[in-house]
Amino acid sequence: MAEKPWCDIIAVSELEENWVTRVDVSSRRLAIYDAPSGVYASLALCNHGGADLCDGYFDGHVIECPLHQGAFDVRNGKPVSAPAMKPMRMLETRIEGGMVQIRL
Ligand code: FES
Repeated sequence: MAEKPWCDIIAVSELEENWVTRVDVSSRRLAIYDAPSGVYASLALCNHGGADLCDGYFDGHVIECPLHQGAFDVRNGKPVSAPAMKPMRMLETRIEGGMVQIRL
C-alpha cells in the first residue's frame, strides 16, 4: 500500500510560539504544538470528552485540556494527568521548506 502524501498545513512562521495553534484542514480541526523539541500535531478534540485542545494550556510538551484538565504529552500522545486515560492520536509531522507538513 502506498504511503499517504505529505500535506502542507501551516507555515512555521505562523505558529503561536511555544503554544498550540488551531488549523482547520478539510473537515478536520487539528492542533499543532510548537514544543521545545519540535513541532507535533494531533486531532484537536480531546479523546476524553471532546473539548477543543486548542483552547487548552500548553506548557513544554504537555497540553492540558480546558474542560477537565486531563493532560497529554504531545511527543507521544500519552496521557499524563487524569481524567485523560487513553493515548491521544498523534499525526506524523515534519518541517519542509518552512512549512509544517503532516500525512493526511
Ligand atoms: S474533555 Fe478533555 S479531559 Fe475531559
